[in-house]
Amino acid sequence: MSVFKANILDGQVALVTGGGSGIGETIAATLAAHGAHVGICGRKQDRLDQAIERIAQTNNHQGGSLFGIAADVRDPDAIQKAVDATIERFGRLSILINSAAGNFLAPAATLSPNGFGTVVDIDLKGTFNACKAVFPHFRDQNGGNIVNISATLQYLGTQMQIHASSAKAGVDALTRTLAVEWGPANIRVNAVAPGPIDDTAGMAKLAPKGMKDKLTAKIPLKRFGKRQEIADTVLFLVSPASSYTSGAIFVVDGAQWLAMNTYV
Ligand code: COA
Repeated sequence: MSVFKANILDGQVALVTGGGSGIGETIAATLAAHGAHVGICGRKQDRLDQAIERIAQTNNHQGGSLFGIAADVRDPDAIQKAVDATIERFGRLSILINSAAGNFLAPAATLSPNGFGTVVDIDLKGTFNACKAVFPHFRDQNGGNIVNISATLQYLGTQMQIHASSAKAGVDALTRTLAVEWGPANIRVNAVAPGPIDDTAGMAKLAPKGMKDKLTAKIPLKRFGKRQEIADTVLFLVSPASSYTSGAIFVVDGAQWLAMNTYV
């Protein structure tokens, strides 16, 4: 049962990149459950269709409808087509969630230039591509809302994560710059920085079996977060409850990164 009004996003239309799995899927489900029509992007159409089927089975609110558009955020033309298709289908677009990301563990010494570039291409350049694709529409309708999914890796010298840390540091910079440049067009741009979240491809790769207890012990709230807790923060950021918030990066990590230097 959501703490938000069920119809808080009635009349809104969202596009969620990386909406076919993990945190992106839960964000898409949450926006739809609160009234928005939602387009979800991912590389494979069948995975998008399966996500929509899962969401249809679990959403208990009538809500908005969902549709899947195969597009790789690394391809500016493909992402523009996804934006145009969403506008064509639902008549407008008012929310963009940049949730597409790729990651793996690799030490800098052996990571290839293409491995580094691939993650930067997905996380950072993909976010830029999608923001650029929605901008003319948001500007012309005098408003829009962008939320970028960032991370906390880049606040520290996180080992085996030079590619993702560099990309997410860029996502934070992009969030702040666009908030300033596009604020006069009534476009809000914010980010959410999740800590360790259960049931995600990211944590399956980054905290394989056996590491979870060790990691949990160091989190002040003594547990991993839930995908729904990230989606609820996104919902807050696209709702009128945050109407004066722009350029903010919301850390949702149970205070994990602040406690990294705790030795007791
Ligand atoms: N360790 C080191 N290098 C790796 C790697 C790993 N585990 N996985 C991929 N790479 C390198 C590849 O070797 C390649 O570099 P090369 O050409 O120099 O050999 C480069 O990254 C691109 O790999 P490729 O498999 O062609 O990329 P892709 O576009 O198919 O996949 C990934 C992108 C690698 C990020 C893939 O893991 C992915 O798409 N993940 C999405 C889901 C995900 O990770 N979610 C978690 C988000 S936190």
